[in-house]
Amino acid sequence: MAPTSAHAPDRADAPWWRHAVIYQVYPRSWADSDGDGIGDLPGITARLDHLRDLGVDALWLSPFYTSPQADAGYDVADYRDVDPTFGTLADADALITRAHELGLRVIVDLVPNHSSDAHPWFRAALAAPAGSPERDRYLFRDGKGAGGDLPPNNWESVFGGPAWTRVTEPDGTPGQWYLHLFDTRQPDFNWDKPQVRAEFESVLRFWLDRGVDGFRVDVAHGLIKKAGLPDHRARTHMLGDTEDAAVHVLDGESPEPTHHTPYWDQDGVHDVYRSWRALLDSYGSPDRILCAEAWVEPQERSVRYIRPDEMHQAFNFDFLGTPWVAEDLVAVIDRSLDAADSVGAPSTWVLSNHDVVRHATRLGYAPGTKRPNGIGAEDPQPDRELGLRRARAATALMLALPGSAYLYQGEELGLPDSTEVPDELREDPTFRRSGGTEKGRDGCRVPIPWSSAAPSLGFGPTHRTWLPQPAVYASYAVDRQAGVEGSTLELYRALLRLRREVSVGTGSLAFVEGYGPDVVAFVNEGVSRSRLLVVANLGPEPVALPEGADLLVSSGPLTDGRVPMDTTVWALWP
Ligand code: GLC
Repeated sequence: MAPTSAHAPDRADAPWWRHAVIYQVYPRSWADSDGDGIGDLPGITARLDHLRDLGVDALWLSPFYTSPQADAGYDVADYRDVDPTFGTLADADALITRAHELGLRVIVDLVPNHSSDAHPWFRAALAAPAGSPERDRYLFRDGKGAGGDLPPNNWESVFGGPAWTRVTEPDGTPGQWYLHLFDTRQPDFNWDKPQVRAEFESVLRFWLDRGVDGFRVDVAHGLIKKAGLPDHRARTHMLGDTEDAAVHVLDGESPEPTHHTPYWDQDGVHDVYRSWRALLDSYGSPDRILCAEAWVEPQERSVRYIRPDEMHQAFNFDFLGTPWVAEDLVAVIDRSLDAADSVGAPSTWVLSNHDVVRHATRLGYAPGTKRPNGIGAEDPQPDRELGLRRARAATALMLALPGSAYLYQGEELGLPDSTEVPDELREDPTFRRSGGTEKGRDGCRVPIPWSSAAPSLGFGPTHRTWLPQPAVYASYAVDRQAGVEGSTLELYRALLRLRREVSVGTGSLAFVEGYGPDVVAFVNEGVSRSRLLVVANLGPEPVALPEGADLLVSSGPLTDGRVPMDTTVWALWP
């Protein structure tokens, strides 16, 4: 069992973000303090102990800014204020203060590609004439064809339908068109304008001055569009299967690099992030960080976002999109570490977020099944038990990898997607814009169950929840799992405690051979010199641990001391 390929350890004194575990809170759905059925900042503050007890290093909050909520807050009308649905600026301050008291860092979402159509700049653009400076902060163009009736080019919105909407001019005549890569109510900014750049630098300072520890940067690969806005021949989807997602597959052709699409991953985005990095660095120690949400292929292009003078982290969507197949997992881990090493950055790891079907549900289908963008009651249903078993094994594998990991609220409970959201209650604009062919992302956004017997399962003080909680969620509630041996919550707590104790995040990684093609096995040697042996068995044959291996934690029960199918174990190996 000689190690094959090896990745060097990080420095023992590596800054926090190089090995942090960061927990994503989706404010609408975590905890509701006022009983209106929508989560809020005071609700989050009141429940921060859960994160301390879980053992994460930081939380990332999806947007809570002033917003008409056309895309659940990713449509921002005021970047410097809190939407009344979620509370006030004072509530944000209180949240940051309390998190810091508990030793948790706070990362907020920044949405620079587009604003809401309710943003004062966009209102001003609509009121101003074609060619005005007000219009020039967005991407307005004249239409094609007789009377300008046709959109300026053939780009399609990520959410379905054309990426252009025509405005009615102040005098009532049909007028120009504006670009929106997402919903109609999310007009794209014109990042060629210094005023747009200055505005976002000011927004960064606003939140840094309030004490936040960093930003997750939404659609980081979209800000700059190719000059002349040329037609593009492919349809792109960001949120469905990975093959449709980061890689744009053109009718049977091989995948095309993302930057061939004239609105994704254009080189100019990097100037923006270099200036932001300098701004964050000026705040001194401890590091404040930037994390890119960039659905970019190939990985050599995506790691350009984390060069030393740019962002600190980028989500590793390749890992998220990898099927439950051992050799594919080995390949993606190896490739991700190589790619991150090539720019001196840590890799990140992620399995779930608010845009994808939760991994406990995804893994309840046969490996290789196309990942759906949402699941309805009439669709083929996942095997929930199998999904959970694999999800626990997948998480135990992920948390053993060097670098930084992201968790999505509820995954520590083994929560599945709701596949029971009635169509009339769906809120994700993808459902409507795709004409219902895509169910959208509501299923992974259903409010969290805290107490199995309370109204709204403890999400809030009333029965109200903005999306219905399926009955089965009661059995996943925190109070059903806390202190219960073998529960998913206790598994996460154990993994996170051990991860710290044996300094997994800054460790080295060497794959171990000899277990056969269905097993992912490696040694992570931490700075504390403990050698952690990790064995994930994806095949039907139970595998034995080597002699002398001292079992630390297992994602599921062993069979006669052997690691059974869909199980991951951590052991100390002298
Ligand atoms: C990002 C967000 C997603 C949102 C989109 C548009 O992908 O994660 O939720 O809909 O950007 O802002």
